[in-house]
Amino acid sequence: MKTDLPSPLIEGLSKVRTVGAITGAGVSAESGIQTYRGQGGLYDDPEEGDRTVESLSGSTLRADPGRTWRAVAGLARMAQDAVPNPAHRALANLEDRLDHFVLLTQNVDGLHKMAGSRNIIDIHGDVFATRCMSCGDEGRLDRETLQQLNDAPSCDRCYGVLRPDAVLFGESLPHEKLTRIYEEFHAHPPDLILVIGTSAMFPYISSPIHSARRQGRITVEVNPEPTVLTDKVDYSLRGPAGLILPALVDRINQKQ
Ligand code: OAD
Repeated sequence: MKTDLPSPLIEGLSKVRTVGAITGAGVSAESGIQTYRGQGGLYDDPEEGDRTVESLSGSTLRADPGRTWRAVAGLARMAQDAVPNPAHRALANLEDRLDHFVLLTQNVDGLHKMAGSRNIIDIHGDVFATRCMSCGDEGRLDRETLQQLNDAPSCDRCYGVLRPDAVLFGESLPHEKLTRIYEEFHAHPPDLILVIGTSAMFPYISSPIHSARRQGRITVEVNPEPTVLTDKVDYSLRGPAGLILPALVDRINQKQ
């Protein structure tokens, strides 16, 4: 299927040398990973959604780390065979060709990295990464081990309890990553900001769009549904990321 982009956008893309992309669960929907909100989302059933949020909270981790890990393992099983889709690959391809590219993602599924993206701010962390709650040692779990966990794994060094190196509900965001968002998106906004597959519920996700617009950059949303950002961006492209992003990236690459 062909994607028609508006002519003024095509014209604007011809001048783009730097891009910032902001992604949410929707960019991985076509890889078979469930979104959080919307039809068929994890929070669709309010009771189930509340249970998931509770299991994935900082307070549950402290009281019962096994419960948190079982919830993480359950999510990992749902994403069992997920591989990057054309949207992840288009973003990785863009990074190879531009003067500067930065990707701010809320996803913890690791698919951007798997597709080849490098300059990533994974603001909610990475569920495959681990940190010991006693000695702070950092490590990684492979997919299979994560999917099979039935209790909290322990540290090879001190036998302390490991935690997922992801931001759980009720926890603060890492200061160093917030500083990177400020530097990359507010202090020096890229020529083009793409916001893809997110309901943009959090201010650190929506505020780069406001900054970019104030500073005269091009802002584009890619989403099959309208969101709180739809009226705030220059262009809202309605449709699946796997279809629209490759077309957008082709256009940008044609001008390099
Ligand atoms: P949401 O589940 O809130 O939103 C997913 C968005 O993706 C929706 O706007 C959908 O319309 C859109 N979407 C669905 N299919 C798509 C497709 N094929 N292409 C493009 N877009 C599509 O996910 P996030 O905005 O990522 O936090 O949610 C943000 C955070 O809320 C998550 O990181 C998680 C959750 O609570 C934590 O776990 C800390």
